[in-house]
Amino acid sequence: MNVADSNSVEAAFLRRGFLLAQTPECADLIIVNTCSVREHAEQRAKARITEFCSIRKPGASIWVIGCMAERLGEELRREITGIDRVVGARSIDRIEELIDLEYSGCTVEPLGHWANKGVCDFVSVMRGCDNYCAYCIVPYVRGHEQSISKETIIDEIGRKAKHGVKEVTLLGQNVNSYRDGAMDFADLLAEVAQVEGIERIRFTTSHPKDCSEKLIRTIAHEHKCCRHIHLPFQAGSDAVLRSMKRGYTSGQYRERIAMIRSFLPDADITTDIMVGFPGETDEMFDDTLALVEEVRFTTAFMFAYSVREGTTAAKLGDTVSHADKQARLRRLIDLQTAVTKEIYAGMTGRTVELLISGRQEKRQRMWMGLDRGCKRALIACDDVQAGTILQAAVLETSGMTLICERTRQ
Ligand code: 5AD
Ligand code: SF4
Repeated sequence: MNVADSNSVEAAFLRRGFLLAQTPECADLIIVNTCSVREHAEQRAKARITEFCSIRKPGASIWVIGCMAERLGEELRREITGIDRVVGARSIDRIEELIDLEYSGCTVEPLGHWANKGVCDFVSVMRGCDNYCAYCIVPYVRGHEQSISKETIIDEIGRKAKHGVKEVTLLGQNVNSYRDGAMDFADLLAEVAQVEGIERIRFTTSHPKDCSEKLIRTIAHEHKCCRHIHLPFQAGSDAVLRSMKRGYTSGQYRERIAMIRSFLPDADITTDIMVGFPGETDEMFDDTLALVEEVRFTTAFMFAYSVREGTTAAKLGDTVSHADKQARLRRLIDLQTAVTKEIYAGMTGRTVELLISGRQEKRQRMWMGLDRGCKRALIACDDVQAGTILQAAVLETSGMTLICERTRQ
């Protein structure tokens, strides 16, 4: 979502004649997009902003945008001197107005190809979140859940397709609660599949409590929908899930996985997992390990719990020590890494459909691609270009990359 926001801010500048600077030292304007989801992300952003303040050329401006800008607002300008403008996540839609205010007199060209980033691109279909998971800052910084109208989404995707985009990833904090009148997210997927030129559709993020059979059936039925479901489970213990206010039990999560696998047996299922939520004991953490062992996620994003001021969980304190969180995270990462390795190793000898996303710069004739799940691939080819879709055989795997050769067009 932050990448999508950065892209739209970049496009707003490019269509006004701005050029991307090669280095921060030579930029007239430095924009830092920020995340607030964990304290570490904020600390890193603050360190980068401070660094930019010291290396920028005389007269250059610094804008801080996104979730941390929303959360801290003007306080951020008091904390780090030298920031010229703070634009919160909820105001990013107004970036065009702000640019015109600051740099009046620019000629604004139509959005055109600037709105795209290669053949794979993002499209936001929702903003905000109403779930208020106990640990999460997102509803406070991104505001209430709002669906973007079907017309706006289809127009945007149609424009992108005309400018060479082949694959769109539909974005929302909880895409399963998408609504536009009687239309739900599964209906939206079916509409997007009708857009000429779009060959592949992905989406993120699904919430286990709302991930419906209708949605999975739609994906199974529509070839353009990629076989990748990102379904964060956060914790394997029911007590922890209850206290996180996630709205499902580990049993219900397992049922969802079984339902997905019954329609999409080959799909990549990925997840987000958190360790060290307040009250989590070693035994409760074992439930997380058990779920990881059982489900066999292709990959997972794994985090140590970080207290976010203002969330309901902040009132529970931070009961798990830093050392315990790190030890649990290590065990979890080791287990998931072993599963990921096995899944990738099992791909050798299989045929995959690849969308070529671009050339691999370091090696001649090597192209990068994406399969219909979430796996990246490298393939040696001559007569292809970004956007080509081809069948390939997996020769071997290297880390989390499939090394492929072409079978037929
Ligand atoms: N601490 C640690 N991880 C968090 N996430 C969200 N909030 C926190 C927090 N306070 C993780 C969740 C979520 C992902 C985007 O970030 O796993 O799914
Ligand atoms: Fe945060 Fe929960 Fe909303 Fe995801 S669903 S953004 S974790 S509040």
